[in-house]
Amino acid sequence: MAVLRPDAVRRVDDPLASSHRGVVDRRGRPVRDLRISVTDRCNFRCRYCMPREVFGPDFAFLPRAEILTFEEISRVARAFVAHGVRKLRLTGGEPTLRAGLPDLVRMLAAIPEVEIALTTNGSLLARQAAPLAEAGLSRLTVSLDSLDDAVFRRMNDADFAVADVLAGIDAAAAAGLPVKVNAVVRRGVNDQSVIDLAQHFRRSGHVVRFIEYMDVGTSNGWRLDDVVPGAEIIARINAEMPLEPVEARYSGEVARRWRYADGGGEVGVITSVSQPFCAACTRARIGADGMLYTCLFSTTGTDLRAVLRADDGDARLREVIAGVWAGRDDRYSELRARATDGLASGERRVEMSYIGG
Ligand code: GTP
Ligand code: 5AD
Ligand code: SF4
Ligand code: SF4
Repeated sequence: MAVLRPDAVRRVDDPLASSHRGVVDRRGRPVRDLRISVTDRCNFRCRYCMPREVFGPDFAFLPRAEILTFEEISRVARAFVAHGVRKLRLTGGEPTLRAGLPDLVRMLAAIPEVEIALTTNGSLLARQAAPLAEAGLSRLTVSLDSLDDAVFRRMNDADFAVADVLAGIDAAAAAGLPVKVNAVVRRGVNDQSVIDLAQHFRRSGHVVRFIEYMDVGTSNGWRLDDVVPGAEIIARINAEMPLEPVEARYSGEVARRWRYADGGGEVGVITSVSQPFCAACTRARIGADGMLYTCLFSTTGTDLRAVLRADDGDARLREVIAGVWAGRDDRYSELRARATDGLASGERRVEMSYIGG
């Protein structure tokens, strides 16, 4: 069996960073990706993200007036693009629950030089894929943790069937959208689904990425024992379907990529727990209410909505964003890896359903 060493082929060059176009943070990292949550609501109740005990009927989701309008999102996006962002990713909660989403995509697609991606649970895609593609969406990522209906229903805790999501994926492909599939792996819950998922999407043209379960937020009761390390996932797949490492496409790419030796396509692992990738992290995130966070594990953010609504103009907005990014020093996953047991933090971290992964 070949020795599997993805580290040997990871690239770390970023021509834009080295020429200092755009703002860089205190660790020299430019801002390249903006993840925009368009709603904090979701029609699933995945136990690792929105457990029902916490996100029940009385949970206070953001009121309408506190959520950024499409015009406001567009202004924020343009300000980030001026600082070097080249990928806008719409997230949630579940972004397809936001009314008129294709209109937002159309507005963002009009910004030159950016690609527009979407992360979705896929349940509503069968109807929405074509309008989203037509509006100018570049590609999408569908979350699907198992092909086993019983396991999947237990995980989403909202009675959605695997077939709903597969229909969404098919509709997206039929609309000409490139599709990736994300599966969060939890030991003892769905780790038996890894081979099934890999086999199912092999030769489909859709790349599956297996994500190590992370300690995002404060409500999922994360334990290190629940994590299946990416190396173990790759070894399991490799034992059935031999793999070879693939070079990273760009500096800061989150997934480590592998290809089937026989040409069946690619898979990836996102190893934020076992092999953190903070050193090349170029992602900024905004919550649906316009709070800016410079790390998935942030405890505090910056209120961009106040800046937008104060009507001080877009130059001021760009200035605030540049100031926040220039002061950024985040590297949570690296620090957690050193602590091995999760970081004890007395402060509440933002929830995954609010910040969108
Ligand atoms: P593409 O390469 O454009 O497909 O994007 P991506 O790899 O960023 O994909 P995606 O947005 O689907 O990210 C996949 C998952 O990786 C997210 O949902 C998170 O669970 C995790 N992830 C993404 N970015 C970060 C990050 O900055 N830090 C950590 N710790 N995890 C991240
Ligand atoms: N750890 C890892 N991934 C998670 N996601 C949600 N919660 C977690 C977690 N605790 C994933 C979702 C989706 C993406 C937005 O983030 O499954 O693929
Ligand atoms: Fe599940 Fe995504 Fe909804 Fe969270 S936002 S409950 S991970 S579908
Ligand atoms: Fe970036 Fe924070 Fe994730 Fe590290 S933990 S990769 S700094 S978002």
